[in-house]
Amino acid sequence: MTFKVKTICCIGAGYVGGPTMAIIADRCPELMVLVVDINKQKISDWNNKDLSKLPVYEPGLSEIIERCRNKNLFFTTKIMESIKKSDMVFISVNTPTKEYGLGAGEASDLRYIENSAREIASAAEGHTIVVEKSTIPVKTAEVIKKILASNQKKSTSTFSVLSSPEFLAEGNAIEDLENPSRVLIGGECTDAIEALANIYLKWVKKEKILKTNIWSSELSKLSANAFLAQRVSSINSISALCEKTGANINEVSEAIGMDDRIGAKFLNSGPGFGGSCFKKDILNLIYICKYYGLHEAAIYWENVIKINEWQQKRISDLVVNKLFGTVIDKTIGILGFSFKANTNDTRESPAINICKNLLEEGAFLNIYDPKVEGDKIKNNLKEVIFTSNKKNHLKISIMASVNELVKNCDAIIILTEWDEFKSIDWSNLSKSMRSPSWIFDCRDIIKEDENIPTDNGLNIWKLGCDRK
Ligand code: UDX
Ligand code: UDX
Repeated sequence: MTFKVKTICCIGAGYVGGPTMAIIADRCPELMVLVVDINKQKISDWNNKDLSKLPVYEPGLSEIIERCRNKNLFFTTKIMESIKKSDMVFISVNTPTKEYGLGAGEASDLRYIENSAREIASAAEGHTIVVEKSTIPVKTAEVIKKILASNQKKSTSTFSVLSSPEFLAEGNAIEDLENPSRVLIGGECTDAIEALANIYLKWVKKEKILKTNIWSSELSKLSANAFLAQRVSSINSISALCEKTGANINEVSEAIGMDDRIGAKFLNSGPGFGGSCFKKDILNLIYICKYYGLHEAAIYWENVIKINEWQQKRISDLVVNKLFGTVIDKTIGILGFSFKANTNDTRESPAINICKNLLEEGAFLNIYDPKVEGDKIKNNLKEVIFTSNKKNHLKISIMASVNELVKNCDAIIILTEWDEFKSIDWSNLSKSMRSPSWIFDCRDIIKEDENIPTDNGLNIWKLGCDRK
């Protein structure tokens, strides 16, 4: 039986669901695409006429929303009604790490996946293809299938469950969705697999659509993220060694990346990996390894996370040491707060730990990020932003520009690789800093050939390059 798909629904209008559905709507004008979310504010933000107010910032996204919104792409809070109308439902809700109970700190909290499955079971009519888009632990499809089977309201409704994890990287989502490295579809029902493949075939070449069994598909996403994170931890461990030995991390990266077997991508040393996926997915991998009694494998992956935490502590400790062992009452400028450039997402951003460490050391922080709202920054640092003596005295200031940020700073730390930071005239700007002043470049923003004069008390430190 071939399945005719006319209407699709996506539960979860976040960083994955929003952009993914926007591209599907854009590339498949014949499809009706309904995006639902329990968060009413988020839906109203997606419907905002002012496109700069969309809840997700991604280069190229607002143009697509403008083209498709209210034509064949609808953002709505009518969850049940939308599921009922749909032939295919994507689950794109968040799967955070469990905070308490069995597996706390490692296992994924699947309550939102469960909620979504229950919603689908009670609202769906006819045959519905359910697609897991969220990154989930291997074997989650079994949970979804059980919930669907035991909760369905109408005896005539039937389901097929597919796993099709999304590999987009934030900040590059539109490009990744338009030209994916691969589209992975795992499942048992060939007709359901074909129905989803036919959607992607509208713009993705057949050779890039990989069909697997459902468990391979689920595990591939976790493994891909763990491998990528492992590269970041590997290069960051080498950055520390460079600083001790006088080697230069950029030269080492280039030299090792030219080996085809290693490859040049994902070898940028920095303040460590952030984002909603890497840490959570590795923790989940660790939990699964332990569950199956594979303790050595669990320890192996645990160390990828430990190196990441160590890199952040290493940076904040180094800043304190360079500033004569104390940052009490000194002002430090933080350039960039998102976990990487071109996104307003701050989940697990390395800036959070680095700022917290410096605030705990007694520093005042001036923070500037081109796309992250001030309230979000404050919320991420809420436990540590007040001085210990006066509870209403804030220790952070959110700045509106780089120029405003540098004034009277003792040091600047570059934590996100925003393009805007690449054209800063440091020799000029550093004049308004307090001397001796420091710039800590953790994202290779300041190039060696810039030759910034340092005879006026300005010191420049570059991660993985400097042992001064
Ligand atoms: C994604 C993936 O789905 C997740 O598994 C992955 O590992 C990280 O990235 P993302 O889109 O980034 O999640 O998450 P988020 O931006 O938090 O969006 C999830 C949305 O689902 C939220 O807007 C939330 O309100 C919504 N939601 C959650 C529902 O609509 N229903 C629920 O029951 C729970
Ligand atoms: C990642 C995966 O790339 C994507 O395929 C998956 O779907 C979700 O998780 P994302 O977290 O959005 O995507 O961003 P990514 O570009 O992978 O960066 C993750 C972190 O690693 C960022 O904090 C980034 O700054 C850091 N990173 C990346 C480095 O420090 N060095 C590098 O060379 C590359």
